[in-house]
Amino acid sequence: MARGLFITLEGIEGAGKSTVARGVCEWLGRQSIRATLTREPGGTALAERVRQIVLERGQERLSAVTETLLMFAARAIHLENLIRPALERGDWVVCDRFTDATRAYQGGGRGVDAAWIESLAGQVHGGLQPDCTLLLDLPVPIGLQRARSRQAGAVDRFEAEAQVFFERVRAAYLELARREPQRIHVIDASLPLEAVQQQVAAVLGRLSPLPDQGRAP
Ligand code: TMP
Repeated sequence: MARGLFITLEGIEGAGKSTVARGVCEWLGRQSIRATLTREPGGTALAERVRQIVLERGQERLSAVTETLLMFAARAIHLENLIRPALERGDWVVCDRFTDATRAYQGGGRGVDAAWIESLAGQVHGGLQPDCTLLLDLPVPIGLQRARSRQAGAVDRFEAEAQVFFERVRAAYLELARREPQRIHVIDASLPLEAVQQQVAAVLGRLSPLPDQGRAP
């Protein structure tokens, strides 16, 4: 059986990834394609524990290098236990963030060496790249305003960052999209949800011919 397609969603805080990811799964369901929805860092019980370590604002310092290693540790667990098995059984995997987030946040935002990130990516997922990445792009002030207006509970280590950090992250994402236009599709996420979903459906529609594998019975 051919493997399913691997779709990732990326963007800064407040871009609406989680809502769009659910919409992508519903869209796939309407095409009779089985989809597994997941997220990073996290996605499995163990990887969610790593997520907690990397996001919480605790007493101890966490360097940019440590943060990068933890992102890849969570990713390795997630790939082995969820992503690869799902793709191999023919499901499509819809993942809220993947290695582009490390490139944008740790590379662009924190200044971690890009070549080192690529070397870790090579070791952790080698030939497995997303087939399609939806980059939900919007101006940073709008994203942060949206994120802060719906914030419940404590602010995590990334949410506590200043606007200038997210400007670097956004710029890094747009540079990735410029370099890989076949894979990374920039979606204008400043528009109302319906318009965002229309852009996403247009991209997904172009992924056809949709494979027979992974179709729900
Ligand atoms: P979320 O907001 O999508 O739940 O992601 C949690 C945070 O983790 C978000 O601020 C981005 C950050 N992150 C990285 O910095 N690097 C990564 O590789 C991933 C997957 C997430």
